[in-house]
Amino acid sequence: MVTTTTTQATRRVASAGGAIDTVGVTQAFWAHHTPLPVLDEVTLSVPAGQFVSLVGPSGCGKSTLLRLIAGLDRPVAGHVYADGHEVTGPDPSRGIVFQDPTLLPWLSVEKNIGLGPQVQGRRDDPFVVERVNAMIDLVGLGSFRDALPAQLSGGMAQRAALARALVNRPQILLFDEPLGKLDALTRATLQTEIVRLWRDQGFTGVMVTHDVEEALLLSDRVIVFSARPARVLADICVDLERPRAQDAAGFRELRREILALLRQ
Ligand SMILES: Nc1ncnc2c1ncn2[C@@H]1O[C@H](COP(=O)(O)OP(=O)(O)OP(=O)(O)O)[C@@H](O)[C@H]1O
Ligand SMILES: [Mg+2]
Repeated sequence: MVTTTTTQATRRVASAGGAIDTVGVTQAFWAHHTPLPVLDEVTLSVPAGQFVSLVGPSGCGKSTLLRLIAGLDRPVAGHVYADGHEVTGPDPSRGIVFQDPTLLPWLSVEKNIGLGPQVQGRRDDPFVVERVNAMIDLVGLGSFRDALPAQLSGGMAQRAALARALVNRPQILLFDEPLGKLDALTRATLQTEIVRLWRDQGFTGVMVTHDVEEALLLSDRVIVFSARPARVLADICVDLERPRAQDAAGFRELRREILALLRQ
C-alpha cells in the first residue's frame, strides 16, 4: 500500500467527534449460490473533521463500505467504529447522501428537510424548526421552501437532500456519488458548496466518487481501492491549499498518481 504522510493539519472542529475506524472489514454477498467477496480486510482511520474520498473501479465495493459505515449493513468479518463505538445500526449522527436525492414527491422542500426530526417526534421543537429554516437558507433554497420536488432542478433537489442530512447535525456525513448525475456547471458549484458546508458544519466527510478531480478538489485524503474484492491500494494525502486550482502542478501530479493506480 502506498501511504503519503499527512502534513496538512486536520481541520479542528469544536464538537470533536466523528472519527471513523474500519478494522479488517471484510464483506461478501451470495450470488448464484456462490460467495462473492467484495471487501478484503479494509482497515482505515478517518480522524474527526477530515474529508476523505474513496475512489476505485466500478463494482469494487465502495458503496458497500459506505453502507457499513452508515450502519445500514453489517460486515461478515472485522469491525466498524464511530468515535470508538462499534457501529451496529444506523444513527442520526451518521448521515448519508445518495446519487438520487430521494425526496418524497408529495412533501414540500421544507417538509422533506424536516422529515428526520418529524420521524423522531421533534418536528415542532422550536430548536428543530429553527434548524430546518437555517439549513434551508444555508443551501440557498429559501425561496423554494414550499415547492414540491418535481418543481426543483437536479442541483436544487440535491441541495435539499444535503439540507435534510444536515438537519440532524451529523458528526459524519457520507456521500455516495451525490453529484454524479448533475451537469458539469452545477456539479462544480455544488463541489464548492460541499466544501463550505463541511467547513461551516464541522462534520467528518467520506465521499465516494468516480471523478478523480472531484476527489482532489474536496478531500484531505484520497483512498484508492483495488478491483473487487476491494483492498486499500493507496492512501494519498492532498496537501494543497483550498480553494484548489486544477492546473496547479501539485494537483496535476496527484491526479497522475491516482489515475496510474486506477489503471493497474
Ligand atoms: N446486496 C447485495 N447483494 C448481492 N451483491 C451485492 C449487494 N450489494 C452489492 N453487491 C455486489 O457487490 C459488488 C460491489 O458493489 P458496490 O455497489 O459496493 O460497488 P461500487 O464500488 O460502489 O460500484 P460503483 O462504482 O459502480 O457504484 C458488486 O459486484 C455488486 O454486484
Ligand atoms: Mg457505488
